[in-house]
Amino acid sequence: MKTLLRLLLLLPLSAAQTPPGCRLQGWKMDTFTQPGDILVGGIFLVYSGYNFPSVKFQEMPKPISCKGFHIRYYRDVLGLKFAVDEINNSPDLLPNITLGFILVESCMSELRASESVMSLLSGVENPVPQYNCHKTSNMVGIVGDMASALSLPIARILGVHHFPQISHGASSSALSNKVNFPSFLRTVSSNMFQNIALSQLINLFGWTWVGMLIVDNDVGEQGGRAIRAEIEKNGRCVAFSEKIHLSYSKKKILRVVEIIRQSSANVIILHSTEPHVMALFDALFDEGVIGKIFISSVSFTITPGLFSRKAWKVLNGTVGLMPKTRPMPGFESFLQSLHPASNSTYPFIKLFWETAFHCSWSGEGMQETGATSTNNQSLCTENVDLKMKIPELFEIYDLSYTYHAYLAGYAYAHALHALLMCQPADRTCANISSIQPWQVLYSLKKTPFRPPSGDTITFDGNGDVSASYDIVTIRIVNGEFQLVTVGTFNPDAKAGHVIDVNTSQILWNERFSKMLLNVFDAPEISGQMKSGTNASRRLLSSFLIKNPLE
Ligand SMILES: *[C@@H]1O[C@H](CO)[C@@H](O)[C@H](O)[C@H]1NC(C)=O
Ligand SMILES: *[C@@H]1O[C@H](CO)[C@@H](O)[C@H](O)[C@H]1NC(C)=O
Ligand SMILES: *[C@@H]1O[C@H](CO)[C@@H](O)[C@H](O)[C@H]1NC(C)=O
Ligand SMILES: *[C@@H]1O[C@H](CO)[C@@H](O)[C@H](O)[C@H]1NC(C)=O
Ligand SMILES: *[C@@H]1O[C@H](CO)[C@@H](O)[C@H](O)[C@H]1NC(C)=O
Ligand SMILES: *[C@@H]1O[C@H](CO)[C@@H](O)[C@H](O)[C@H]1NC(C)=O
Ligand SMILES: *[C@@H]1O[C@H](CO)[C@@H](O)[C@H](O)[C@H]1NC(C)=O
Repeated sequence: MKTLLRLLLLLPLSAAQTPPGCRLQGWKMDTFTQPGDILVGGIFLVYSGYNFPSVKFQEMPKPISCKGFHIRYYRDVLGLKFAVDEINNSPDLLPNITLGFILVESCMSELRASESVMSLLSGVENPVPQYNCHKTSNMVGIVGDMASALSLPIARILGVHHFPQISHGASSSALSNKVNFPSFLRTVSSNMFQNIALSQLINLFGWTWVGMLIVDNDVGEQGGRAIRAEIEKNGRCVAFSEKIHLSYSKKKILRVVEIIRQSSANVIILHSTEPHVMALFDALFDEGVIGKIFISSVSFTITPGLFSRKAWKVLNGTVGLMPKTRPMPGFESFLQSLHPASNSTYPFIKLFWETAFHCSWSGEGMQETGATSTNNQSLCTENVDLKMKIPELFEIYDLSYTYHAYLAGYAYAHALHALLMCQPADRTCANISSIQPWQVLYSLKKTPFRPPSGDTITFDGNGDVSASYDIVTIRIVNGEFQLVTVGTFNPDAKAGHVIDVNTSQILWNERFSKMLLNVFDAPEISGQMKSGTNASRRLLSSFLIKNPLE
């Protein structure tokens, strides 16, 4: 009787123990849970955008609805799932303890990311700040988000509780500050060296006059300022610096297109997460503004599946930085085994099938929230072969962020293992039934981790890992999207080898090649920086004459 009473009280905890008048109004959040003895929360980007609801006086504003399910982003969720499966099958790592996870989706909205973290912390769909209503198991940490702009609000909230967060993609250097973000760690490097890498790329090609496109949020503003400072420190000039965001109207986008068209700068630094520039790239093509070269920062994930064929043409010749990744043995066959019937408990599996095979389960268009159901789609069937489509759908030639989500899973597993499997004589031991997130945070900072194939990694005092990038270029040849690695950037390398690029592998587009001949003056190819030398000043002044200030 007593147990029953307790159960009754426990189940609707949020409703029973907080009087209705004391509760903030919120919305139901969709979460996905894979049960386990210990849970890791995940806040992932799966959709590339959202519909912002119109706000009326007559009714309470509705929540944001996500749109644009993107398989490459979904792959990051599967990367964490793959790590959890491997860990649960491993006899050495956390034996007899099952790791599970809870997943929420942020769809590129800061508001949704904040809401997700509160929902994860309180353990109910309608989040209750300051309440932990997890019924069965302990959630000890969070993986995510991929974008810095979304990771920042999450890190602010989690920092208050010293609740660990490991981002698999946020590179903003602001997050290294442990006074502001005490519980934030990441498996990608801070973009502190990115500014140097971008600036050295520009030096390498002898460009003196560049434009900048930056995402319209705090992260873009901070990052943009740092990149600009580094470029100017090297005696180069920024022709324009324009903001862009997925919420911009057509009119605002066309204004940016005009600025790009009218500028004589043919090289544009792109510092934005990719969903924010989708509409801009289409507009650039429609308005005939092609032949500019984009130099993308690590914030920009090169994911062809997200962009239209028109945007591909605009992206042709882009040179970009990508975080270094390693192979994930077994991941491809893991993806090949995905099936909506036998893996029906997978998050987003039905939606994935619909997107992959351009079909719908109901015959009424895609399940996706906010999707238009006007398109004429066939009914989905389970008897189709996924295998051949895997490389293209999942873009498996570049595992970045998925690999980093996978690493985050291993970071948690090793930290938990160290806490739970230690000798009682050791004072840093925890008991599984009473393990605390702050204990896990302590252990994460101290415990080296490694995936089954890969090097050992340790977080530094700021929760960062060492930086090194691949330098890649995009080639659209015969209608095919190719991503070619042309070099590396490694700040720890010997002087003269920090940046290493095989320039002959970069295919500039035709209009650009002609322009390049005019300015290419074989600069300091070694990658060593010589700021403000007389040579660069001379170059600068001659260029300024050719390009009257806009
Ligand atoms: C795991 O469980 C099995 C069976 O219950 C037991 O024999 C074994 O000792 C356990 N291993 C550890 C490390 O607790
Ligand atoms: C899907 O289910 C099948 C059958 O249970 C299983 O063999 C396969 O490993 C599962 N795939 C994944 C990705 O878990
Ligand atoms: C639906 O698609 C089929 C085959 O692709 C086509 O024949 C048919 O005309 C389409 N119907 C509509 C209403 O677009
Ligand atoms: C863990 O805590 C539970 C309850 O507090 C206790 O019964 C159990 O003996 C503890 N286990 C260890 C290994 O200390
Ligand atoms: C640079 O790329 C070209 C073309 O692929 C190749 O022939 C050459 O060997 C490369 N140079 C170096 C130093 O790797
Ligand atoms: C991309 O640029 C290369 C190099 O200039 C060119 O050969 C190719 O045709 C371009 N692709 C498209 C689709 O414009
Ligand atoms: C740069 O030029 C100035 C005057 O033109 C000269 O005095 C100075 O020595 C030069 N510096 C270098 C590093 O060449």
